Amino acid sequence: MTPARPKLAGVVGWPVAHSLSPLIHTIWAARAGIGGYYVPIAIPPGFDEFARAMDSLIKLGFQGVNITLPHKEHALRYAAGASDAARKAQAANMLTFRSEGPFAENSDIEGFSNVLKECFGPTRQNGSALILGAGGAARGVAMAIKEYGFSEIYIANRTREKAQAMASEFELTLVKWEERNDALAHIDLLVNTTNLGMLGKPPLDIKTEHVPRQAVVADIVYAPLETKLLEAARKRGRQTANGLLMLMHQAAPGFRTWFGGAALVDAELHKALVKELARRGAE
Ligand code: ATR
Repeated sequence: MTPARPKLAGVVGWPVAHSLSPLIHTIWAARAGIGGYYVPIAIPPGFDEFARAMDSLIKLGFQGVNITLPHKEHALRYAAGASDAARKAQAANMLTFRSEGPFAENSDIEGFSNVLKECFGPTRQNGSALILGAGGAARGVAMAIKEYGFSEIYIANRTREKAQAMASEFELTLVKWEERNDALAHIDLLVNTTNLGMLGKPPLDIKTEHVPRQAVVADIVYAPLETKLLEAARKRGRQTANGLLMLMHQAAPGFRTWFGGAALVDAELHKALVKELARRGAE
């Protein structure tokens, strides 16, 4: 009897070597006893480069790929069909090679929804949140927060026009970047979607002491695992959610779709990723 053909999937980006997604999928595949490989694939910037690579992956029998920078918009353009969420986010981080054509999705929204459920419970009817940043990541986060049920959502971004555009599109309240600290007193959730606080970038300048005691402080940055923002919030007794939580949750829909197994986000997976980050830091 010929053994079943291993399932193939991966993550495409430029650069892509830093991605933790291969480790996440490898752990899930091993747990489920699924024969499959999830590999990092470096594709230089540009739609034509992206499209040629996707054509090849389809021929090679890949089930699908996750997409990271700078190809999230290319994925949407390349796809024959797309989910409403991916269209609304104007970016896709999942492409599934269906027989009727490539289908684009955005699992960042589901990813952040699950972070919210872990922090606040299954649903919420009110409350307010402040989103810092108005880049690609902020769009998914804003959609998840809105869908989850927060009634007042503020947004602040260094470049005001970008925050303004998101505020009109998603019905958010615009806060000036210089006045971000003034908006903290009544929020239940603060989310950093900028790259401030990331290794090699300046820290985010924010007064966590103004954040109410019961509020959650979340960061999508995961290198370092505990950003200065999260450290300050934790030391003041606020609940925190790190970037790995979002990363693990956004990976789950791809695994279920391409490998067909359970994709459990748990402490053991988190521990393995923390260990890998520590290993890389030590290199
Ligand atoms: P991503 O897709 O990961 O969100 P991005 O689209 O490049 O990446 O967005 C990066 C975010 O970090 C933006 O909101 C950016 O603010 P601008 O829109 O003003 O560029 C924010 N950011 C980056 N460096 C910053 C800095 N030094 N101060 C304030 N915000 C910064």
